Amino acid sequence: MILNSFYLPTKILMGKDSLKTALDGKKRVFIVTDRFMHESGRVSYITDAAAGTGAEYDIFSDVTPDPDISVISAGVERILAFKPDVLIALGGGSPIDAAKSIMYFAARQCDMTGCDFAAIPTTSGTGSEVSRFAVITDSEKGIKYPLIDDKLLPNIAVLDPSLVASLPPAVTADTGIDVFTHAIEAFVSTGRTDFSDAMAEKSIKLVYRYLLKTYREPENLEYRQRMHNASCLAGAAFSNAGLGINHSMAHALGAKFHIPHGRANGILLPYVMSYNAGCTSKLTPTANRYAKISRLLDLETASTRQSALNLIRTARHFIEELGMPSNIKSIGISEKEFEDVLPELAETALADRCTATNPEPVSKEDISDIFRKAWLGKWW
Ligand SMILES: NC(=O)c1ccc[n+]([C@@H]2O[C@H](COP(=O)([O-])OP(=O)(O)OC[C@H]3O[C@@H](n4cnc5c(N)ncnc54)[C@H](O)[C@@H]3O)[C@@H](O)[C@H]2O)c1
Ligand SMILES: [Zn+2]
Repeated sequence: MILNSFYLPTKILMGKDSLKTALDGKKRVFIVTDRFMHESGRVSYITDAAAGTGAEYDIFSDVTPDPDISVISAGVERILAFKPDVLIALGGGSPIDAAKSIMYFAARQCDMTGCDFAAIPTTSGTGSEVSRFAVITDSEKGIKYPLIDDKLLPNIAVLDPSLVASLPPAVTADTGIDVFTHAIEAFVSTGRTDFSDAMAEKSIKLVYRYLLKTYREPENLEYRQRMHNASCLAGAAFSNAGLGINHSMAHALGAKFHIPHGRANGILLPYVMSYNAGCTSKLTPTANRYAKISRLLDLETASTRQSALNLIRTARHFIEELGMPSNIKSIGISEKEFEDVLPELAETALADRCTATNPEPVSKEDISDIFRKAWLGKWW
């Protein structure tokens, strides 16, 4: 990843006519989505529009949550056989990441330069529509791998809040806390710039103002739009600045115990922030960055420690109000079960590509310690 640069080649289209622009002049549309989107009829958002322009389409809907290598291989075969002039991903991070990986690996076997790539998120969470990341799971090994490459970036992102209004509360919660984690990690990352900061700051403000409102009033399209924008802004921020160990640890934990991505991030967030701020030892420069966020949210006090703690408390408040688990123990993972896999979890998290941009140095022992605190529920 090239740091000290800001690259956002994806054209972001907003509003209900956006899809027409993505389909303009297209004759063969390859749709990547998941079974729920297909079977619930939500894919007609694209197929009706494609049929209206006389385009042919093929629907690949075998994507599972946290897409596996085998799903990507099957998708590559299908896209190479169909030869589309546009690939459209419809869904949450799982279908979008699958589509990105399918395009990436197909391009290694065939010239795909004539095929556009549009991503249409139906969750407000991953920001995958504008990020150079795609997360693939190796189910046999129980590991998630983030691919990071500019070639993964879609040409077009369509942000339509009407697609998100049907999200169940638990998914709104999980994906919303994912947005918050992206923005916070990008804001303190070693790869941050003024440009990524601008995106992260706006995203944090939007999440602060609209996440709980959206959760409580899910059909309010104005709130949904704001969270959709927050998700996309955070995606642009971390795509350029990188993330940190919250994501490294969430990848390891989520893959081992099959926890949804956002939930794994949310459970870990206060513990990771506490470590990065040096709350239990000596305050770090990252504590100043957290205090800066507190200032943005009018949570600042005269003391840096208190200001940083106020941000950690905000994360805890979100988790509580969103009905999310606040520690690993409470999701039914026994101490023995956890201790048995802890060395492997810590090693996998340390090796994860997101660790490279964590703001504070971290060792395998540090990660084990954070994991233990997160199991127990001891964040201070
Ligand atoms: N590429 C990136 O930059 C990036 C960043 C963060 C996470 N990820 C990855 O993204 C994946 C998680 O994505 P996600 O959190 O968006 O979840 P998801 O795509 O796995 O979807 C979660 C569930 O919500 C359902 N769903 C999606 N949209 C819906 C809607 N509008 N109405 C009702 N149900 C709907 C899906 O069918 C699925 O069952 C993980 O694999 C994670 O590792 C990628
Ligand atoms: Zn994430």
